[in-house]
Amino acid sequence: MLVGRRLAIGALRSAVDGAVGGAGGVVLLAGEAGMGKTALASEAVAYAKARGAETMWGTCWEGDGAPGFWPWIQVVRALATEGGDAGEGVLAELTGVTEERGGGVLGDESAIRFRTYDMASTYVRRRAAQRPLVVVLDDLHWADVSSLRLLVFLARQLHDTAALVIGTYRDVEVMVSDHPARPLLAELAGQAELIRLPGLTADEVGELIEKVCGERPQAPLIQAVHDRTAGNPFFAQQIARLLAAQGVPLDRALVAGVPPAVGDVVARRLARLPGTVVDLLAVASVVGRRFPIATVAAPPAHQPRRRCRSPTVPSAPPSWSVTNPATSGSAMICSARSSTTGCRPPGGRRFTSRWPG
Ligand SMILES: Nc1ncnc2c1ncn2[C@@H]1O[C@H](COP(=O)(O)OP(=O)(O)OP(=O)(O)O)[C@@H](O)[C@H]1O
Ligand SMILES: [Mg+2]
Repeated sequence: MLVGRRLAIGALRSAVDGAVGGAGGVVLLAGEAGMGKTALASEAVAYAKARGAETMWGTCWEGDGAPGFWPWIQVVRALATEGGDAGEGVLAELTGVTEERGGGVLGDESAIRFRTYDMASTYVRRRAAQRPLVVVLDDLHWADVSSLRLLVFLARQLHDTAALVIGTYRDVEVMVSDHPARPLLAELAGQAELIRLPGLTADEVGELIEKVCGERPQAPLIQAVHDRTAGNPFFAQQIARLLAAQGVPLDRALVAGVPPAVGDVVARRLARLPGTVVDLLAVASVVGRRFPIATVAAPPAHQPRRRCRSPTVPSAPPSWSVTNPATSGSAMICSARSSTTGCRPPGGRRFTSRWPG
């Protein structure tokens, strides 16, 4: 049972209702890792099933080796298994078997691509005409470009069908300027309902802790967890499990340390940042959330001789909000992202500091 998310659940349910009533479309769920995108999509799938819809799930693959159209291949394969032989032809088209068997020239690349999109979307529309259909495409930030193009193609054709596609993606990852999915997701956003997931409120974090620990936490503990996690449900859940593992009543439990799973998420995000930004964050992490610029520009006593170049910091007011990476990844990465994308905060200026040895 999910905590909070009333608006997102309401929007997803009404999109499902719309599809069941013949007015389909695309809903995009965007948010950082652990915000609850997959959990919300699962909630929508359960609701869709209860409303009599057929539901299919395709998940994008992070690593190398997945074929093009991978999430769609999973969906069409599952649909084909459920019945009807047209699915086999579409599957063959998506996996490229048709071209290999044909052996001949089937047309130029864009014509082949168009034919593939047309076959797949016609199939989805036909299936939805038989029974309302809800498709989840999870983790679109890892999708191949062909899969996203097919989604853009299909999105234009769903308004008068009983098909809903729910796509989830980590917006923080896609916002990196050279991410291949970025332009296609931006194009899709014009034709889809976009639901951005913010952090849970402090009250909701309290509810989540209570669910995990079986005990209502006191306000200061709730606030401490909310501060550390910025309301990220996954982070909050992991910290709550650490609290529960201490085996003492919550009013004696300490919010200390970083749960290993949270550390992994933060480390993966740091790994994508330029070294100089990570250096800056390392300094900022021991200072606290808000601090004068001079504090992070000053040489830490233990730091070896090095030079720190931070692309962007605000000139006024002379403070910069960074969150301790040991306590929360989200706000920290938000700040860091501004730097990596070259998007300056209001009044921002280029900033260079030297740490003399
Ligand atoms: N609103 C919520 N209430 C309770 N638990 C939640 C809520 N949202 C997410 N969770 C829990 O937090 C964890 C992470 O959620 P989920 O996997 O849906 O995140 P995600 O956004 O899909 O992350 P990722 O980008 O890594 O796939 C799961 O265990 C999920 O059950
Ligand atoms: Mg997920």
